[in-house]
Amino acid sequence: MIADFMQAADEAARLGGQVLRTWSTRFTVTEKSRSNLVTEADFASQKVIHEFLHRRYPHHGFLGEEGLEHPTGAGGYRWVIDPLDGTSNYVHGFPYYAVSIGLEEQGELIAAAIYDPTRDEMFLAGRGLGATLNRRRLKTSGERIVGQAMLVASLPVATTAEDPAVGRFLSMIPKAQTVQRTGSAALNLAYVAAGRLDGFWSASLKPWDMAAGVLLVREAGGVVTTIRGGSFELEVPDLLAAATGELQQEMVRILA
Ligand code: IPD
Ligand code: CA
Ligand code: CA
Repeated sequence: MIADFMQAADEAARLGGQVLRTWSTRFTVTEKSRSNLVTEADFASQKVIHEFLHRRYPHHGFLGEEGLEHPTGAGGYRWVIDPLDGTSNYVHGFPYYAVSIGLEEQGELIAAAIYDPTRDEMFLAGRGLGATLNRRRLKTSGERIVGQAMLVASLPVATTAEDPAVGRFLSMIPKAQTVQRTGSAALNLAYVAAGRLDGFWSASLKPWDMAAGVLLVREAGGVVTTIRGGSFELEVPDLLAAATGELQQEMVRILA
C-alpha cells in the first residue's frame, strides 16, 4: 500500500516538474507579500499534481500552498503539496528548487516525493521502507560534530536584522564548518537525507515545505526535532533536522 502511494507521489511530482520546465521561460511574477513571489508555474504545477492524485484517490484530503484545501476523508489520508519550493530561485534562474509531495495517514507521514527537475533527481521515501534517490538507497552523512558540518537554515522570507532567526543564524556561523541559506527548504531536507548536507533548521516553514522532507530524513536514518530538541509537529513552524542524534544535540545546544 505505502509502495503504491510512493509510486503515485513519484508520478505526480514528475508531472509538476515537467510543468515547471515548460513555464521556465515565459512566467510572470507576482508578489504575494514583500519578497514572497508566485508565478503561473506554481499554480499550473499544483493543478496537474492535484488533478492526478484526486483522480487516483478521490476520497483523500489535500493541502497545497496555492490555495488548495480539501478536508481529510474517511481513511484519514491527506496529501501535503508544495508545487514549487524555491520560487525565488526559480524566478532568478538559480537552479535549486523542487516539487514536494508528502502523504499523511491519520496525521502521520507515510510517503514522500521531492523532485528536482533541473537535475532530474527524484527523492522518495515510505514509512518503514527507507529513502532513495533515483532508486539508490539513501543514508544521512553520519556526521556528529558541528565543527565538521555543513549546515543550512531557512530564514523568514522578508526578515529583519532584529529577527531571532537571524540571531540563531549568526550564533551558528562561528561554530559550524559552513552555514548556508539556499532558498528551498524541501531540497535542504532531501539533501540532509542524501548526506550532501549535515543539518538544517528553521522556525518559519509551512507544512508543505516540510512534509515530504521530514519523512525522507527520518527514513535515511536522520533525526528530526524542534530547535529546542522537542518532538516535531507538522503544523508548527519549528524544525531541526540532523544526520545523527549527536549532531542534533550539539545544534540544539548552540541554537536554543
Ligand atoms: C520557501 C522556501 C525557502 C524558505 C521559505 C519558503 P517557496 O518556499 O522553502 O527556503 O526559507 O520560508 O517560503 O515560497 O519558495 O515555496
Ligand atoms: Ca515552499
Ligand atoms: Ca511554493
